[in-house]
Amino acid sequence: MQLPLELLLMACSAIAAPLTPRSATLLHLQGLTALSRDLSTTDIRFPEKYFHESINHPHYDGRFADSVLPRKTRLFHMRLLLRSYMATMERAGVRTWVMHGSLLGWWWNQGIFPWDSDLDFCVEETGIAELGAWWNMTVHSFSAADLGLEDPSKADTYVWDRRRRSKNRGQEEEVEVMREPEGLKSGVWETVMEEGKKYLLEVNPHYTDISTSDTHNVIDARWIDTHTGLFIDITTVHPVPSSASAKSQEKHQIFLGQDEGREERGSERAREMFTKDTHLYTTSSLFPLRESTLEGTRVFVPYAYEQLLLEEYGPQALTDTWFNSHMFEKERKEWTVALDAAGSNDKGRGDREDAAGRFKKGGKKPKWKSPKGEDGVKVEDNVDKTGEKAYTPVPGSG
Ligand SMILES: *[C@@H]1O[C@H](CO)[C@@H](O)[C@H](O)[C@H]1NC(C)=O
Repeated sequence: MQLPLELLLMACSAIAAPLTPRSATLLHLQGLTALSRDLSTTDIRFPEKYFHESINHPHYDGRFADSVLPRKTRLFHMRLLLRSYMATMERAGVRTWVMHGSLLGWWWNQGIFPWDSDLDFCVEETGIAELGAWWNMTVHSFSAADLGLEDPSKADTYVWDRRRRSKNRGQEEEVEVMREPEGLKSGVWETVMEEGKKYLLEVNPHYTDISTSDTHNVIDARWIDTHTGLFIDITTVHPVPSSASAKSQEKHQIFLGQDEGREERGSERAREMFTKDTHLYTTSSLFPLRESTLEGTRVFVPYAYEQLLLEEYGPQALTDTWFNSHMFEKERKEWTVALDAAGSNDKGRGDREDAAGRFKKGGKKPKWKSPKGEDGVKVEDNVDKTGEKAYTPVPGSG
């Protein structure tokens, strides 16, 4: 005997829809995830929290990750995350830029810190509205060629394929070619070459609640690797309501004064912007965005990136060449493992993976005072002021 259809549907929705909003369940994701068991945390103290992380690691999505990856394999997947994310945001017409720990990694060598395991990007309100309205729960497939991966033995095919695609679709950009990196877990490269990758874009329904008291929903959206559970955190910068802005106007004068050239040029006043996790910015510290690269992918960074990094992490973060048992080698522009007791740095969680955890300042609210000359550190905007050209910063110049 068959159950009536209505009953079946009711049974489904009873399982699928929890009482409080929570990210899509395994039932929604059938066919997309290889897991048969949800490994997400379930903290009943915060029923309003939407995104949940893996019980194994806070930088993996428990609906997709069954394990924590070794470092080199993780970095490989993070590079692909970046490539696919930037390509998709470009297609969606959503302006997005690197922030926080990822910006600090970029500052040193336009790379991801080898001990890091997440990526932070920001969008504007118009961007998150676009993603929330039209792109929520969309799945994006990328072939190896889309991701710029190249098998040397079949190089000709891929080059040909890429040419063909760029010809057919007009101005499709060529991505920098990536060969198999050393030290990947066995089978990882082959699987990606054969099957490509699938990514999920999920938007937190709380994105419309811009209150900073909604502390468990500061992440507005995630770009999730459905094979590994690694993700990019996307947060929105909101304009501070003008009544609240007037109060702290004075503090910002100092900051704006630093930004000499532009103040004369720009007639529009800088506005204050904030994120739900209570970071405070000005429009003139963020825009115009500058174009650069991160791990070989074209990205955008905030205009006054150095000031923002100083505010968030303090001057040492831009001068110390010793981080999480890694040394920055200036000639090679590379972080290398300096303490290697029997490969202990490869175990994934041994180090603090929070990109700049060591330098994180106590209070999150930025103090808008001039960093110039403080602690004897030379801090200069070491790039051209137009914001139009691609460029790279010069790290460790202190
Ligand atoms: C996105 O889709 C998920 C799953 O259906 C849902 O829980 C969430 O509320 C949606 N987000 C938005 C912004 O609509």
